[in-house]
Amino acid sequence: MKQSYKQLLSFSPRPFVKWAGGKRQLMPTLSKYMPKKFDSYFEPFLGGGAVMFYLIAQTPKLECFTSDLNSDLILSYITIRDRVDELISALELHSSKYFKNPQDYYYAIRESTPKSQIEKVSRLIFLNRTCFNGLYRVNSKGKFNVPLGKYTNPNIVNEDNLIAVSHALKSKTISIKCQDFTKTLETAQKNDLVYLDPPYQPVSQSSNFTSYTNDSFGYEDQERLFLEFQRLDSKGCNVMLSNSKSEEVLDLFEDYLDKTIEISANRFINSDSKKRTGHSELLIKNY
Ligand SMILES: C[S@@+](CC[C@H](N)C(=O)[O-])C[C@H]1O[C@@H](n2cnc3c(N)ncnc32)[C@H](O)[C@@H]1O
Repeated sequence: MKQSYKQLLSFSPRPFVKWAGGKRQLMPTLSKYMPKKFDSYFEPFLGGGAVMFYLIAQTPKLECFTSDLNSDLILSYITIRDRVDELISALELHSSKYFKNPQDYYYAIRESTPKSQIEKVSRLIFLNRTCFNGLYRVNSKGKFNVPLGKYTNPNIVNEDNLIAVSHALKSKTISIKCQDFTKTLETAQKNDLVYLDPPYQPVSQSSNFTSYTNDSFGYEDQERLFLEFQRLDSKGCNVMLSNSKSEEVLDLFEDYLDKTIEISANRFINSDSKKRTGHSELLIKNY
């Protein structure tokens, strides 16, 4: 039976894409370490938005300043907010064509370069739902290069969640922009909560996953981020940052190690399933 529009709106929105480094499974742990009270929320490495969706489910009127440097991803948020019905129709079309011949259809769409907003965003969501591990990865030319995944019945449209996300994002208290993290953080004030979830500093050469955009996040960016962390700390913001337990991160954040938590996480980025074991990562705080 089809649900009414009102019933759909009562669902809590969830990430509409699987995102490398997504924090959905870690929310029970992350939420334990968030301050009980804070004013506005800042998340400048938004990705799939697991943390923001979690927080607005608890506090629908929370003022959120969010952003990401991946322009295709931000276009997806904006399109879901403003044109969800057209997007759902485009995804329904992808879905029916995919199920006729998954292999051929997937690679034809992966090679395509659509021009319209709806075609671009429906392509991103379609590829994310059907590709290997739901990874977003582009090569140095910015071209999506993940192979077809092994799904028997992928949920390509997920209408209920898209409508719930659209409704949530229409709130005047949520701002979503495509920009570098420093720009988003300019307006953070005392008592705000800032969650920083950058591409992680690699712990080894083979674990170097930084290709969410065609400009990867290097060590100089980790240094810029550390300076930003210090600046926000001195302003009186509550700052929380996730990163790998790497030598570089431990060195940079040396002064905050007494407020750092080590948490075990299961990451599914390594293409060799035998190497996808749980490991520790850091949650660095200033409070
Ligand atoms: C670890 S992911 C964030 C995952 C997110 N917390 C989630 O739950 O899905 C890191 C994000 O940082 C973005 N990014 C990379 N460089 C950036 C920059 N200079 N400024 C802002 N965002 C950036 C990437 O596009 C990616 O979406």
